Amino acid sequence: MTEHLEQIERQALGELESVQDDEALQRWKVTHLGRSSPLMKTFDGLGGLAKEERPVVGRRANEVKRSLETAFEDRCQALRQRAIQHALAAERLDISLPGRPARRGRLHPTTQTLREMYQILGEMGFQVYLSREVESDELNFQLLNFPPNHPAREMQDSFYVDTGKPRGDNPLLLRTHTSPGQIRAMREFAALNPQDPPPVRIILPGMCFRYEQITSRSEMQFNQLEGLAVGPHITMGDLKGTLSDFAHRMFGQQVRSRFRASHFPFTEPSAEMDIECFVCGGEGCQVCKRSGWLEILGCGMVHPVVLRNGGYDPERYSGFAFGMGPERITMLRHKIEDIRYFWANDPRFLEQF
Ligand code: PHE
Repeated sequence: MTEHLEQIERQALGELESVQDDEALQRWKVTHLGRSSPLMKTFDGLGGLAKEERPVVGRRANEVKRSLETAFEDRCQALRQRAIQHALAAERLDISLPGRPARRGRLHPTTQTLREMYQILGEMGFQVYLSREVESDELNFQLLNFPPNHPAREMQDSFYVDTGKPRGDNPLLLRTHTSPGQIRAMREFAALNPQDPPPVRIILPGMCFRYEQITSRSEMQFNQLEGLAVGPHITMGDLKGTLSDFAHRMFGQQVRSRFRASHFPFTEPSAEMDIECFVCGGEGCQVCKRSGWLEILGCGMVHPVVLRNGGYDPERYSGFAFGMGPERITMLRHKIEDIRYFWANDPRFLEQF
């Protein structure tokens, strides 16, 4: 009987050697370990053996069974390994094919200009202060010394927010300039120490909106960059020094600048700054409309009423403010003749910067 088992084992292991694929392997399992395999039949036949023989044959049958199962597992593994090796050799990845370059986006030209401005003004000690785009009439106008119905409002026709309620005397609107941020910032700083408010040196960038006819020179949405410095001894000399230095760093050391008297309700005195046309060097060309000068910003000493509205005592503090249009400056630098390109989202325009 044990000899029969040896033979079953030898036969099965021998056949396993020639098994080359999964299908044959499964067939082998059914033949040699299945219900009606010779091995399993010996288990069935144990009952008919002599009493002394039973344990000996039973043990041997179990050993053969384990041996066949182990051999089966090993073969299984070996075949799987072989399949992997095969696949690795046959399906080798060709990494010599050059990849398709991903198309990289770029910063909007206005953003590039703004970042350059942050860099220059940041080195002078100005911090970026972000203020909201939806403002109240009070912040956008009244606290900046534009009384209701004041004719100066006419320069900044507004988009009002429809809240479903009657407009009243303090309607919500899309800010027409970044100047309301002056009040917000001063109030926040002053609240830190109301008796002795700390000095302020900030720039306020962001979108502004005006209800305007859209033309090549004016958009209804645009950026501004506002600057504000408030402290105990700030003079018009500081304003001129800061802005001339800014112009040198932004447009070139040789570029001259000049200040012209102007009017804003929230600064006194007020001025506009021109820089010498960097296209023609002041000779007169199309960009500067033959004047030799380019107007780049409005500025002035913060009006005492505005200081007080921000929580700063005008008897003890003074300050200067300025506001410029990054789109306009980008147009001048790159000789872009139409402001509408900035919002047209045409990649042929945007890709040039
Ligand atoms: N807010 C003004 C405008 O939009 C610009 C400005 C800012 C002028 C700060 C003076 C001081 O026209």
